[in-house]
Amino acid sequence: MPLKVLILGGSSEASALAAIVAGDGRFDALLSLAGRTQAPLASPLPRRSGGFGGADGLADYLGAERINALVVATHPFAAQMRRNAIAAVRLRPTPLLIVNRPAWTPLPGDRWTCVPDMAAAARALGDTPRRVLLTVGGQDLVPFAAHAQHSYLVRSIDPPAALPAGADLILDRGPFTETGERRLMAQRRIEVLVTKNAGAAATGAKLAAARALGLKVVMVDRPPLPDLEGLDVQLVADADRALDWLSHQARSATDRGV
Ligand SMILES: NC(=O)c1ccc[n+]([C@@H]2O[C@H](COP(=O)([O-])OP(=O)(O)OC[C@H]3O[C@@H](n4cnc5c(N)ncnc54)[C@H](OP(=O)(O)O)[C@@H]3O)[C@@H](O)[C@H]2O)c1
Repeated sequence: MPLKVLILGGSSEASALAAIVAGDGRFDALLSLAGRTQAPLASPLPRRSGGFGGADGLADYLGAERINALVVATHPFAAQMRRNAIAAVRLRPTPLLIVNRPAWTPLPGDRWTCVPDMAAAARALGDTPRRVLLTVGGQDLVPFAAHAQHSYLVRSIDPPAALPAGADLILDRGPFTETGERRLMAQRRIEVLVTKNAGAAATGAKLAAARALGLKVVMVDRPPLPDLEGLDVQLVADADRALDWLSHQARSATDRGV
């Protein structure tokens, strides 16, 4: 019997893992998306969309669908979904893997100010009016509206529900190149970049561009991982390591005759 795997997606690692396990007879895998992105990238795996109804709903789902392994491959800033997954496997014990890609770290020449959250990022821009490139996603723009002295250029995949007054919007999805990022920052005379510490290769070129142009970066640190004490859980950095874990789970299930 193939291992029934639920992958909570919304990250490049989830897409990579979906591509790896699709067609692998050891796994019967399903990719779950929150349903926020209007046109999600195509997936070779069957897909479901929308929330489960909190931790209880996810625990019920794991039981009803007889899921043998849960892979949390959400974005590192999707903190609620991680908390829910951990609470769900406490309710309905299920082997759990968290794909946690490494955070970006500053290199020589970087001018980062690290802050704990988006409100602190908005405050870190200071009182002097600045031209700011905001690449924090469309859901996290609210704190910037109160700092209307700045000129914002917002880049997001989908149109945000609301923009700070007077902000310009670019709709675009990575991967981006350093050359392209430098061109954008120079053309728009950007002085400060605001970003989450997503750690993704596809969106890391903006940091190299900011370094090359000597721009300041306001870096929003990741939310901490929840308490994993007492859980059957492993953390890995990428899709290849996730496949190693899944392969191990499949072998164990076969040995147990599941
Ligand atoms: N936050 C970011 O910066 C960011 C950036 C890029 C991509 N994303 C992706 O966008 C999605 C939403 O992010 P978020 O920060 O709004 O999440 P979140 O705050 O952690 O989660 C909010 C709720 O959305 C639902 N949800 C989230 N991920 C889901 C998934 N993969 N499948 C089914 N339901 C899911 C859950 O609803 P229920 O409680 O009803 O189950 C969850 O409680 C995630 O899949 C994430 O990977 C987020």
